[in-house]
Amino acid sequence: MTSQTTWLTLRSPTSPVSCASRAIAASLDGIAYASREIDGHLGDDADPGNVSGGGDTVRWFAPGRANLMGEHTDYNEGYVLPFALAHGVTASAAPRPGRMLALRSKQAPDEPATVALDSLAPGAVTGWAAYPAGVAWSLREAGVDVAGASVDIDSDLPVGAGVSSSAALECSVALALCELSGVTVERRELAAICKRAENDFVGAPTGIIDQYAALLCQEGHAMLLDCATLTVTQVPFAPATAGAAALIIDTRVAHALVSGEYGQRRAECEEAARLLGVPYLGAVRDPAEASRLADPVLRRRARHVISDSARARAIASALLGGSVPVAGGAESATPPEIYRYMGRLLTEAHASLRDDFEVSWEAADVTVEVANAAGALGARMIGGGFGGSVLALIPVDRMAAVRAVLTEAFTERGWTPPEFIDAIPSGSARQLA
Ligand code: GLA
Repeated sequence: MTSQTTWLTLRSPTSPVSCASRAIAASLDGIAYASREIDGHLGDDADPGNVSGGGDTVRWFAPGRANLMGEHTDYNEGYVLPFALAHGVTASAAPRPGRMLALRSKQAPDEPATVALDSLAPGAVTGWAAYPAGVAWSLREAGVDVAGASVDIDSDLPVGAGVSSSAALECSVALALCELSGVTVERRELAAICKRAENDFVGAPTGIIDQYAALLCQEGHAMLLDCATLTVTQVPFAPATAGAAALIIDTRVAHALVSGEYGQRRAECEEAARLLGVPYLGAVRDPAEASRLADPVLRRRARHVISDSARARAIASALLGGSVPVAGGAESATPPEIYRYMGRLLTEAHASLRDDFEVSWEAADVTVEVANAAGALGARMIGGGFGGSVLALIPVDRMAAVRAVLTEAFTERGWTPPEFIDAIPSGSARQLA
């Protein structure tokens, strides 16, 4: 592979908050909802080949994420508080002669794709391959001379579970393609490039949280991100200090087919901000401001965004300051007290997502209720909603009981039992040997 590395100066800065105006063309979770359809940009070599084992192969891993707090706040320029998971996507890439990108995924073995780098254009590729192809397109738009490559994807992230497998796919591919092309892109710029791939190439009008989480989170921390300024604050997040652990409960209800609802929420938030006279709802700090909106739906949407953004800041303050809020200020608190407070905020956020933002689903509501009744400190749905996962903070000595009653509750209702994932605050994307 190329030994010389160049630092890239972007030809045109990519706005991380730019909103795709095209209709939503794809799911929010690329790996899960792969389609076989690849239209007019197939090359004449339909076999992507196997890159494994070659001396020139580069391997990059990018993690999925769970979001401790701040849901649907990223595109509103509010606060989010995600942490990276130990699970993620690995992209193995090898140089390939010619101007083709050959893409293959272990999770979609029947859907390999070969695309011509020089004719990539938004809408030209659909299905799972739209994400890596979109990354190549977005890198080229930013001035990177992307070299031909064979890319193999593998993932241990659950699919369609709201833990950001699409951003993990984008970021692992972006890092691999950059290395093969002899270019290093600063991670914030790379996050914006990957977001642009998702917004403008794939057509999903998502925010910046997932790419920032995959590229910038630190092990043992959650990352407070001010989406207005893109300022990052690393916040120590170690539930074990409070005798607790974070658990992801995948409700096995996939969330991808409702991307229209995501766009609709986004439009409602933009309208609410316009009526409140602010550029974005994130600019408003007091949830009571939402009551100025006459329309009850817009009022509820705004109340959720403003309050969830405040909850993200509140959790970060508690963890950073070792304190919990009391009337007129904050008071030093022990880790168990802090995590109990966080748990209450999680459950409060779930009610807000369910009642005000209306993006929850029955299995998530049942999960939160049952987990809390069995001793969780608190729980809430994570991700875009309408399917996916719940994040719970659970005392370690209640963990087995919570898992057992959840499985029982799902089985009793005739639902597919949930999958459990230990949510361990992990590091960001990295090169693998
Ligand atoms: C999806 C999007 C994110 C974010 C969340 C909701 O996961 O990809 O940008 O908007 O929904 O917080």
